[in-house]
Amino acid sequence: MFGRRGAQEEQLATTPAAHAMARPENPERSLPAVASHPFIKSQGNGSNPGASPLPTTAAGQPTTRKDEQYYDLKTQVFAALIEAIDVAQLAKLDATEARGAVGDVVKDIVAAKKVVMSILEQDELLQDICNDVLGYGPLEPLLARDDIADIMVNGADTVYIEVAGKVQRTDIRFRDNAQLLHICQRIVSQVGRRVDESSPICDARLSDGSRVNVIAPPLAIDGPSLTIRKFKKDKLTLDQLVRFGSITHEGAEVLQIIGRVRCNVIVSGGTGSGKTTLLNCLTRYIEPGERIVTCEDAAELQLQQPHVVRLETRPPNIEGEGQVTMRDLVKNCLRMRPERIIVGEVRGAEAFDLLQAMNTGHDGSMGTLHANSPREALSRVESMITMGGYSLPSKTIREMIASSVDVVVQAARLRDGSRRITHITEVLGMEGDVIITQDLFVYDMIGEDAKGNVIGKHRSTGIGRPRFWDRARYYGEEKRLAAALDAAEQSSP
Ligand SMILES: Nc1ncnc2c1ncn2[C@@H]1O[C@H](COP(=O)(O)OP(=O)(O)O)[C@@H](O)[C@H]1O
Ligand SMILES: [Mg+2]
Repeated sequence: MFGRRGAQEEQLATTPAAHAMARPENPERSLPAVASHPFIKSQGNGSNPGASPLPTTAAGQPTTRKDEQYYDLKTQVFAALIEAIDVAQLAKLDATEARGAVGDVVKDIVAAKKVVMSILEQDELLQDICNDVLGYGPLEPLLARDDIADIMVNGADTVYIEVAGKVQRTDIRFRDNAQLLHICQRIVSQVGRRVDESSPICDARLSDGSRVNVIAPPLAIDGPSLTIRKFKKDKLTLDQLVRFGSITHEGAEVLQIIGRVRCNVIVSGGTGSGKTTLLNCLTRYIEPGERIVTCEDAAELQLQQPHVVRLETRPPNIEGEGQVTMRDLVKNCLRMRPERIIVGEVRGAEAFDLLQAMNTGHDGSMGTLHANSPREALSRVESMITMGGYSLPSKTIREMIASSVDVVVQAARLRDGSRRITHITEVLGMEGDVIITQDLFVYDMIGEDAKGNVIGKHRSTGIGRPRFWDRARYYGEEKRLAAALDAAEQSSP
């Protein structure tokens, strides 16, 4: 029984789970010599960690910023553990059993090494090691936090997170780049992919829906780079956006109407500006009876309606085959008798198919794209179509855009980290070769306060009758629209 060997050499029964993963061979072997283990990169500074206590604060609490000593000890316990258990067997246990089993072994190893530790410190070490063996290692505590939007790992020693719009560095680190790559590997293998020197770029998804990108050396020069966009279970609602000051109450009201009366919408914005959040908000106001097809690279939208078909693209497999692009999905959508098509992110030639859908009776279709202003959003659509290989005159493409897109909603992440809806803009039509737009709402930046927070104000541009007025009337929303626009104008400077 490996769990009780080493210094104690006792033959007590451990848990059945621990028993199950015991290595069959050489059961009486004593604790392995740490130095011989391939997991260990550096052997520390030759100090004997066996009897050294963990660093503690004056109050006896473990220091939060773990130091070298802690990592040294952890490395040694970890190495001993890996020698002692059969990881393949361990993988067959469920999470709680596996944690129990690992816990038993770790306690024995710590006891055998005669390390002086409080219960609290031992728990912390155990937690860390369990995360390494069973989960995503040092990432686990970050993955468990709901307030984090993004996790960015730039090599083993540098981990940044984004909380409340601000990017900050954490003191979390990996043992070395090998461990980091190993964890990347574990993440991507769950979706049947692989990341290593020969295929160093990989997209994947965690089981909770979070999106993952890995780029490994030699392409990433300073070690594997891992980016996780955390999946938020509770998507923000328009009410919350109003509370955060991302949009005014009246602006939100107009967005609701835009969603309900089947305007064709493009949500535009930079990375992490809140495009997907906004798109998700807009979909809340779709009637429950409508048949909706969504196309996404990684399913993020959470539609409340009962009649929804969700589609997802697929990257090519290891042999480079089997790819299904956004374009394939959007094209296929048109044969599925959708009433609305929602495209998570328009990046390429699918722009053409989405416009076609908007133009051919699938009113109320929506998509997001990456641009910094409503005007830029429209020219992005044009260039996506041109680059997609359609040899149409640019005027024709623009006419197509002008007749398909009703509204562009612009999201932005300001320099203080706050997110704002900066424009609700209508597409009016063409004048000569130019697409004409008109802003309904805009956000004006005025300045900055002492703490660096952006000061600004939303204002209505005073348009009393937007182009989708007739639509609103058709859907019985005319009065609400008039009231919202009126109130917005009253409260605008
Ligand atoms: N108006 C907002 N206020 C605060 N946080 C927001 C707002 N909009 C989005 N977020 C948060 O910002 C992060 C990125 O939003 P997301 O919609 O995924 O951005 P994008 O699709 O533009 O990359 C998410 O964690 C989301 O919850
Ligand atoms: Mg998005």
